[in-house]
Amino acid sequence: MGALGVVIHGFIMVIIAICLMSEETNAAQGTAIFYDPPYIPSACYGRQNLGVMVAGASDAIWRNRAACGKNYRVRCIGGANLAPHPCKAGNVVVKIVDYCSSPCNGDINLSRDAFSKIADLNAGKVKIEYFPA
Ligand SMILES: *[C@@H]1O[C@H](CO)[C@@H](O)[C@H](O)[C@H]1NC(C)=O
Repeated sequence: MGALGVVIHGFIMVIIAICLMSEETNAAQGTAIFYDPPYIPSACYGRQNLGVMVAGASDAIWRNRAACGKNYRVRCIGGANLAPHPCKAGNVVVKIVDYCSSPCNGDINLSRDAFSKIADLNAGKVKIEYFPA
């Protein structure tokens, strides 16, 4: 590799490291549960239909409605009970449209549609990593 190659290589490594770090600093860990359709009416949008990739926010992220409309990328990172093989690969982006009133059984209450993309519905509850998307 020539000198320029080394510089470019180093530059790319730094960019990748920054991306990984910024993702980590914004990432939170918690738990997710799910709820069944219909997903309307919702606490944020009333009878307005925002699709099926939606979620209810617990007090962990609700912040007196400030969470309404925020998108979160959510990934399953493990089981929260004894259910075998709780996680599926990949992640989903959901929009907060509702409030999971306290005591909520998880930090994010995913729609059944969203939960089933990242986890086994039979698990009911899983550990997640989530960050603003
Ligand atoms: C969230 O989950 C709980 C417990 O399963 C459920 O009772 C509640 O109605 C759900 N809804 C929303 C929108 O958070």
